Amino acid sequence: MSDSTVDTDKRTWLIASSCAGAVGGAAVAVPFISAFSPSERAKAAGAAVEVDISSIKPGEKLTVEWRGKPVWVIRRTPEQLEALKKVEGQLADPDSKRKPEELTPEYARNQARSIKPEFFVGVGICSHLGCSPSDKFQMGPQPSLPDDWQGGFLCPCHGSTFDMAGRVYKNKPAPDNLEIPPHMYLTETRLLIGEDKKA
Ligand code: FES
Repeated sequence: MSDSTVDTDKRTWLIASSCAGAVGGAAVAVPFISAFSPSERAKAAGAAVEVDISSIKPGEKLTVEWRGKPVWVIRRTPEQLEALKKVEGQLADPDSKRKPEELTPEYARNQARSIKPEFFVGVGICSHLGCSPSDKFQMGPQPSLPDDWQGGFLCPCHGSTFDMAGRVYKNKPAPDNLEIPPHMYLTETRLLIGEDKKA
């Protein structure tokens, strides 16, 4: 076998395999896309999610999925809102100044980090390594938390703590507050997560 024969064979193989690849790709893509309903396709692409918040009682949390992330909607009690003031001095970024574009939309750059103080809307993913923090709404002494605990969240992975507005406590592994997703109220009881008035 001469060298030129090898080259010719190799070129033929390369052409054949690249064509096979293109055909294979198209053949695979069709069933993959058609396996989704239009609403699932839209959801997969990151469409906004509408949520009825009328049944959430004070002190309760509803979790919805948006872009594959858990988004918490919490109806805070007056006591929980009051606690936000008490913990300010212990927080790493109480005024949501860090990465504001990424973490806190303009309308949530306030103490409660929300449009309406009563309702907190936040992404339940820790800013350290991405675990989902656990609810620790009960105030007072309890395992893994300080005796003067004012309610919030504890990340089980490395112990970061957050207040009821998703603001991270100082000197914890998590560097930042929890993310507030873009959102807006369509009516008093319907919330749209994933879009806001600027969108
Ligand atoms: S992932 Fe939350 S503290 Fe490490």
